[in-house]
Amino acid sequence: MAEIALKNLGHSYFANPKSEEYYALKPVDLVWEDGKTYALLGPSGCGKTTMLNTISGLLHPSHGQLLFDGRDVTQTSTAERNIAQVFQFPVIYTTKTVRGNLSFPLECRNWDPKDIGKRVAEVSELLELDDILDLPARRLTADQKQLISLGRGLVRDDVSAVLLDEPLTVIDPQMKFSLRRKLREINRQTGITMILVTHDQSEAMSFADEVVVMNDGRVQQSGRPEQLFERPENTFVGYFIGSPPINLFNVDVRNDSLVCPALDLSDIPRGQLQPGSLQIGVRPEHLSFSDPTDNGALATVEACEDLGIDKILSLRAANGEFFKVKSRARQKIDIGRKLAISVAAKDVLVFQDGKLA
Ligand SMILES: Nc1ncnc2c1ncn2[C@@H]1O[C@H](COP(=O)(O)OP(=O)(O)O)[C@@H](O)[C@H]1O
Ligand SMILES: [Mg+2]
Repeated sequence: MAEIALKNLGHSYFANPKSEEYYALKPVDLVWEDGKTYALLGPSGCGKTTMLNTISGLLHPSHGQLLFDGRDVTQTSTAERNIAQVFQFPVIYTTKTVRGNLSFPLECRNWDPKDIGKRVAEVSELLELDDILDLPARRLTADQKQLISLGRGLVRDDVSAVLLDEPLTVIDPQMKFSLRRKLREINRQTGITMILVTHDQSEAMSFADEVVVMNDGRVQQSGRPEQLFERPENTFVGYFIGSPPINLFNVDVRNDSLVCPALDLSDIPRGQLQPGSLQIGVRPEHLSFSDPTDNGALATVEACEDLGIDKILSLRAANGEFFKVKSRARQKIDIGRKLAISVAAKDVLVFQDGKLA
């Protein structure tokens, strides 16, 4: 097991990258601590697979260094890194039994058959495969096949980390949930670092101790799920994390205060902020409503979507700005109704040039 550190590590698929734009992974410093669960989250094409493959060694980065426990492994082969990688589609031998699939990596390493039997039994117990050990792998369901792919990586007794590249894509939602839980359980039992690549924020947030958000080849923010939710470092993270995404409002500057007309806020400390590209961000969960009173922001309900526990209100502020509120309120809310909208000062985020101020 190892701490994995990226030191100014980047990759361009072009031989002579002229500028940052040519990098699928822009140079980044990042540490994956030993034993934690991570999610690497971002939209399709943002560089997740590129980063993962540089860690496993399928790809040699064009830039920077990769360290395992301080040791430079940038130029080493995949075999020397002891990384187990699971891909979007299960990689298994359909002609072999489950047991045969799990034994094979050890047979290739010339393990003693007795030791192979013992190790396969351990992994089978860990992944709860005992009942299907002697079935042909082709008869398994998609999630079982992914467990076998994982098992083939885990049988080796020297695994530094498990990297999973969108492994749940082919699995139906209920099984996704149970497989994700199983992955976490395996992490707790074995202490093996796990990095799960996904473009699905709820998958990332429910799986990982820490989520690394990427966009456009660049790491945007890394933190615990609640940090990403409460304090997104930029508007991309505010938008990508949370459903609905963060609301962004126009800001005016008045002397030493920032003014947000849509929410009728006029006393946000300005500090050193300059007029121009300022925005106020508020999560839909952090806005509340009540019947109109003499003061406070007024907004008109344009739509109300009932999600069972939550309601999503679409609202139009008096100044014409559009925003959403997520609420647990039980009462019926009619379209066209006017509501007073409020927010706690601690939940008002100020962004300058798209970055949290
Ligand atoms: N082998 C390759 N050659 C050239 N460009 C590639 C190659 N693989 C990926 N890319 C490009 O690099 C960018 C990042 O891709 P990728 O890491 O696969 O993203 P993700 O896994 O987040 O969907 C994309 O623009 C993609 O088109
Ligand atoms: Mg990918």
